Amino acid sequence: MAQREGGVAVRCQGVVHLYRTFEGHDVVALQGVDLEIEPGERVAFLGPSGSGKSTLLTLLGGIQRPSAGRIFLGEEEISRMGERYLARIRSRRVSTMLQGATRNLLPYATARQNLAYARLALSAEERREAMSGAELLDRVGLGGAIDQVVATMSGGQRQRLALACAVSTGPQLLLADEPTSQLSHADRDEVVELIHHLGDDLGTTIVVVTHQPEVAATFPRTITMKGGRVGAEGRDGSDYAVVGADGMLHLPAQLAVEWPAGTLVRFEPTDGGRLVVSRADDTEGLR
Ligand SMILES: Nc1ncnc2c1ncn2[C@@H]1O[C@H](COP(=O)(O)OP(=O)(O)OP(=O)(O)O)[C@@H](O)[C@H]1O
Ligand SMILES: [Mg+2]
Repeated sequence: MAQREGGVAVRCQGVVHLYRTFEGHDVVALQGVDLEIEPGERVAFLGPSGSGKSTLLTLLGGIQRPSAGRIFLGEEEISRMGERYLARIRSRRVSTMLQGATRNLLPYATARQNLAYARLALSAEERREAMSGAELLDRVGLGGAIDQVVATMSGGQRQRLALACAVSTGPQLLLADEPTSQLSHADRDEVVELIHHLGDDLGTTIVVVTHQPEVAATFPRTITMKGGRVGAEGRDGSDYAVVGADGMLHLPAQLAVEWPAGTLVRFEPTDGGRLVVSRADDTEGLR
């Protein structure tokens, strides 16, 4: 990888994203995401299918612009940036691995050619200092496949090559959407280790989307998306609910089953500074 130091902070303020469908109606994928990630922090995004994880990742990677709200990488607001600047950020500072094994690579080129393509925007000096293609491929277990054409690779091989390409520019921010979903357990652990090495070596800020608890457990911070918002956070083993816009709060998964939409709840502050949330039942005259 190239040797540029340091990760970048990420900040989202009220980020909303709509998709217009062919039928002409709007799908609200994100409905007000507020979020701060420190430089060099490593975060795993969790959440049910359709909760907006991939959408948020493509916005952070400057691949799409949000419909509303603001996104900052460090001091720079990428949600207002022109396409030329965004392209520069995508090719040098932020690497995005999209969901799915086939979308990140040139299918008819070899592994070596894909790596060279990923590093096209680097200066000659940065390229000289960078880890060679052969070394990088060795690290993702593709040492023997340097001249293999992507179209002939398995899904797992493609995901490992996509990761090698993503880290090859030494990005300040690595965004990876389910990078281990098609890998064997051994390959999955190796890829996760490689992602963490990038953080150790360069201080890169890392955001990974995953459905796999084993992968999430290697990250000090988890963010759970629910219905296009940040619903919950886990930090160092403790779980927290996150207050959203308009004071909105998601119930923990178990309670959400027991207390369906429309359930009346009562908030009672205690002397000890705690707040007790209980279900208001019929005997109290509440329906
Ligand atoms: N290109 C698109 N056009 C229309 N709707 C879209 C498009 N991409 C995503 N959506 C919709 O936006 C919402 C969020 O999708 P997104 O792909 O961000 O979810 P996700 O959390 O990544 O889900 P998964 O875990 O299945 O990958 C969903 O309702 C989805 O159907
Ligand atoms: Mg997704």
